[in-house]
This record gives sequence, C-alpha cells and structure tokens, in this order.
Amino acid sequence: MTLADDLAASATAIETFLDGYLADMPESPLLGTPERLLAAMRHGSLAGGKRLRPFLLRTVAGLFGLDPAAAVRAGAALEMVHCYSLIHDDLPDMDNDTLRRGRPTVWAAYDPATAILAGDALLTEAFRLLADPETHPDAGIRLQLVQSLSNAAGPIGMVGGQMLDIEGEGEAMALEDVYAMQQMKTGALIGAAMEMGAILAGAGAGEVNRMTLCAFHAGLAFQIADDILDATASTQVLGKTAGKDQAQEKSTVVALKGLDGARALLDAAIADALGALADHGPEADRLREVIGYFASRPA
Ligand code: IPE
Ligand code: IPE
Ligand code: MG
Ligand code: MG
Ligand code: MG
Repeated sequence: MTLADDLAASATAIETFLDGYLADMPESPLLGTPERLLAAMRHGSLAGGKRLRPFLLRTVAGLFGLDPAAAVRAGAALEMVHCYSLIHDDLPDMDNDTLRRGRPTVWAAYDPATAILAGDALLTEAFRLLADPETHPDAGIRLQLVQSLSNAAGPIGMVGGQMLDIEGEGEAMALEDVYAMQQMKTGALIGAAMEMGAILAGAGAGEVNRMTLCAFHAGLAFQIADDILDATASTQVLGKTAGKDQAQEKSTVVALKGLDGARALLDAAIADALGALADHGPEADRLREVIGYFASRPA
C-alpha cells in the first residue's frame, strides 16, 4: 500500500469512529449533550484535517505487531485532544483565526464561549474514551495511555507550549527557546502519538523510549514545517490564513533564521528523527516515510 492510500484508509477509520462517537444517539456515550455543544464539537473535529497523529500512532503500533483496527479508539482520543487544541488556538484571545481546515473556525461559526466549551468537552471525552475497557482490555495499558496523553497535553506539554507561544509574540527569543516552545506545543502530541502506539502494542520500555526520542525530533520538524508553510503556502492550499505568524510577530524558526535557515534546520530535525530509528530494519520504512512526509507535505 502506498503512503497516500495508507493515510487515506487511516483517516477514514478515524472519521467514521468520531462521527459515530460524537452523536446524540441511543448507543452513543454522548447521548444527552446539549445540541449546540455537540454541533460545535462536531464542527471542530469532523470533515477535515490530515489525521496525522492517529496515523503515526497506528503506524508505530503496527511496527510492534498491532492490527490497525485495534488502534482506532486510542487514535481518535488523541485526535480529539489535537482538535481541541486547534479550537482553542484559534480563539480571539489566542491566535484570533477565522479559517481552519477550509471552514470558519468554531468560534467564528458559533461564538467564543461555545468554542471554549467544545474544546473542553473534546479534551475530557478523550480521556473517557481512553479509560473505556473497549480501548484495551488491560487496565495497566489504559493507564499508561492516559499518562502518556495527559503528560503531552498539559502544562508540561501542549498547553505549556501555547503559553510560551503567546508570551513570545513580539519578543526576540533565542533559537533554543523557540525549539523548547515548539517541542512543547506541537512535539509533545506528536510524541504521544508514537508513545501511545508503542504502549498500545505492548512494546517494551526500551522500545517506547526509542519512539519517544524519535518523536522529539519529528515533532520539532513538524512545527518548523508548519511555520515554513505559514510563510510560503497560500490560504487556499493551507485551509487556514497564511502569513499569520509574521502578522502576529510570532517567534518562529522562520522569523529567527529566515526561510533557508529554517529549511536547513527542518532537514536536520528529520535526519535526527530518522537516526533514532537506525536500529530498526525495513519494518520501520512506513514510519520513516511518514516522518519524511512531515517535511514535504503541501499543507
Ligand atoms: C496544525 O496541525 C497545528 C500544529 C500543531 C502545527 P496539523 O497540520 O496536523 O493540522 P490538521 O489536523 O491537519 O488540520
Ligand atoms: C498551534 O501552532 C499548535 C497547537 C498546539 C494548536 P500554530 O498556531 O502555528 O497552528 P496553526 O498554524 O494555527 O494551525
Ligand atoms: Mg498558535
Ligand atoms: Mg494558530
Ligand atoms: Mg502555524
């Protein structure tokens, strides 16, 4: 299967699961959710998005022998957290964006209060989903999944990174501080994707750690690529407003080192991520391919 076909199959599985989960139906765990809240949750999480984090999770789980179908629930939980992070990132008091995935942002389509609550709800549901025995029969594995995702999403991960991002607006940050911020705001959830895949598949602690190291570099690469795209791609291709980083004086690698400098650092981060997989053979080729795609993706 080509990478594109594999990505599409994974994205469809995640979309189908989320569509069924986020439903006010008798069999859905969300039965009874206020209609407006559920609609905003659906707006922010369905129809769009590359679904790269669940794909990474499933690819790593596959590397350790897990069937892709067994990785859907954990992948969907991770994607819920990612979607919540985007809903809040777009809020007027954060990046103040009106376009996301080619559509109005949740706050623009509804209102900021509803967007805050939709994000809160997706975040909370992600952990309910992970804790459900259907996600994995072993409670110890489920606990490790919860620990991995909560470490990555919270103040020592994504939320902490978002604080540094906001504080860094208009500031002259050192490259190492920009790196630390990128690794927290974006690298942490990329890291959780790979870590959770390994945990779900029952990989040993050494293998989980190797995935975490790989993800450290891959996550950084992902955000450098996002910053390069913000400066070079069109709003139409991105599905979100281009050129926002410069307009908001964000501290990015592009702002600090220019486009050529950022591309060189992106290549270096990809090389470091691939280097962490040196002990793996061809069975890790799909993982290598998707990490390479981080640098070459069009949006
Ligand atoms: C965008 O993430 C936000 C960042 C962390 C850079 P993605 O580029 O994965 O966004 P979607 O999910 O495909 O829309
Ligand atoms: C967002 O980074 C990272 C998150 C944790 C959501 P950006 O602010 O650069 O993401 P986009 O460009 O709006 O997708
Ligand atoms: Mg932001
Ligand atoms: Mg943003
Ligand atoms: Mg961006």
